[in-house]
Amino acid sequence: MKYNALKGVHDIFPPDIHLWQKVEQTARDIFSVYGFQELRAPIIEATDVFTRSIGETSDIVEKEMYTFNDKADRRITLRPEGTAPVVRCYVENHLYNLPSPQKYFYSGPMFRYERPQSGRFRQFYQIGAEAFGVGGPKIDAEILSMLKLFFERLGLKELNFQINSIGCDKCRPDYRKALLDFFSDRLEGLCQDCKRRYDINPLRILDCKVEACIKLKDGAPYVTDFLCGECREHFNALQSFLNLLDVPYVINPNMVRGLDYYTRTTFEVTCEHLGSQNAVAAGGRYDKLVQEFGGPPTPAIGFAAGMERLTTLLKLSSIEKVPSPKVFIAILGTTAEKESLAIATRLREEGIWTELGYAGNSLKSQLRRADKLSAEYVFIIGDDEITAGKLKWKKLSDGNQGEMLFTDIYDFLK
Ligand code: HAM
Repeated sequence: MKYNALKGVHDIFPPDIHLWQKVEQTARDIFSVYGFQELRAPIIEATDVFTRSIGETSDIVEKEMYTFNDKADRRITLRPEGTAPVVRCYVENHLYNLPSPQKYFYSGPMFRYERPQSGRFRQFYQIGAEAFGVGGPKIDAEILSMLKLFFERLGLKELNFQINSIGCDKCRPDYRKALLDFFSDRLEGLCQDCKRRYDINPLRILDCKVEACIKLKDGAPYVTDFLCGECREHFNALQSFLNLLDVPYVINPNMVRGLDYYTRTTFEVTCEHLGSQNAVAAGGRYDKLVQEFGGPPTPAIGFAAGMERLTTLLKLSSIEKVPSPKVFIAILGTTAEKESLAIATRLREEGIWTELGYAGNSLKSQLRRADKLSAEYVFIIGDDEITAGKLKWKKLSDGNQGEMLFTDIYDFLK
């Protein structure tokens, strides 16, 4: 019997895993200097955690969640995103009692039953961050400049920062009314889902991926034209902070985002090299969500970046060096086998990556393996070398070679 991975999921293994580790390490380094600490929430949650926050009319909740009943008949969902679980954790553990802002980052797999295509998976990985307790626009700008630094440290270029404001409870009703007016004589042409969304949440029509709906939303009113005084002030201040911090951005008034919990600032970072699934990171403010989860009124903002898309960009943009062993010990004979094991153990104890040749393989095939692994040095040990207490060494990059006493190995490598 032969098994394959399920559709839309993928394995990650060397050499690609090194790119993944680089992204994760860079994120840890950058996010931590901005004061974000790691938070690990479970992969499964009660389904309500997602339906109530992401929104009943969103694509994710309507079509994409992996939901099942557990043995006690509870509705359980594999997390499609990371924000709702972090908010659930924040409220459940009363983290709002700690001084504001509380800042957390997370990484791990998310699950959405989407149509798989390049850059879009059913199990994909996000690395994200959320900041709780500050309502002003300065922290929005800090988060965007943290993202900028993160991408710079990864060596990623040609990224576009798009920002928008989608208003608050005060301005949303006017915008909603304008959308209802706009779509009222286009209703017939909309897909079945959008006909339903028209009554419940017309904003979601703007996010529909159906070709007919995309055409019909052409000319729809912009949310930015309906912002109340406070939302406008917030958005203007954000822009002046971004100018101050040298974060290049464009305003995209069409960007409403596919999740319902957003208020005010939303943003996406895109890259043309990624094709149609071009968002590497996205996020925004969700000032009402903590309260909706039973916590005190707590403004919040965050983002998540897609690991598959980040590593794809890294692959396209750099000649990332795959890590390789410092030493490969090739052996001739059984006495050498024991000696090599002892030497390798000592070197490994000193933190030196050491690979071994194994008895039964010819010297030629051992050297071929050393070459394939891109080992820095090859040590050759045979019975003659053991009698003399010496080994032969060769540096593979320049072909230099020589002999040394076993007792000198550590100093030589230093
Ligand atoms: P999102 O826009 O749904 O936002 O996802 C964020 C990022 O995850 C996307 O920009 C993309 O890079 C990646 N992504 C999403 N779906 C897939 C997929 N099917 N395959 C591969 N990559 C994917 C959120 O999830 C929000 N929780 C972000 C947020 C955090 N907002 C506030 N805080």
